[in-house]
Amino acid sequence: MRKIILLGYMGCGKSTIAKTLSRIIRIPFVDLDKYIEEKTNLSINSIFEKHGEIYFRKVEHEAFLELLNSSESMIIGLGGGTPCYANNHELLKGENVLSVYLRASIDTLFSRLSANKSKRPLIANKNDEEMKEFIAMHLFERSFYYNQAQYKVNVDNKTIDQVVLDIVSILA
Ligand code: S3P
Repeated sequence: MRKIILLGYMGCGKSTIAKTLSRIIRIPFVDLDKYIEEKTNLSINSIFEKHGEIYFRKVEHEAFLELLNSSESMIIGLGGGTPCYANNHELLKGENVLSVYLRASIDTLFSRLSANKSKRPLIANKNDEEMKEFIAMHLFERSFYYNQAQYKVNVDNKTIDQVVLDIVSILA
């Protein structure tokens, strides 16, 4: 069964775009972070706090494999770090997989994330200056993994509908 994978840095719009895409193409959307929260009965913040990031990456990898191996077609919205750990990037090119990197500039990410960071343990305690520096560095480190996606769609200065249409045209 077909798996459409949306990936990209925190704040690039994976969940918002996946929800609209799901309505249009009538394939259910599963958010990997939410799936992990349900599976572990813990929020992402609590997993980081109680068990640390390495444990989170292990659970994230297992959860990603479970979704990929399920018999349902689905849109999977990854966490921002998913492709960058446990060789998950190799799974972006698997059989029946279509992966799309939602590419956003540092400025776009910064303006979206500065308003919405409390649920994101990697940036929750950073001030604006620290955050901008962190995003720039982190995006640079992660780009190699994001670029393993089969398709790339720019999201800067586009509405949700425009991005969704770009993805629909890839699927057509
Ligand atoms: C992370 C991104 C988060 C979440 C966790 C780690 C990351 O997901 O998986 O906080 O490493 O970039 P979103 O990209 O949905 O915020």
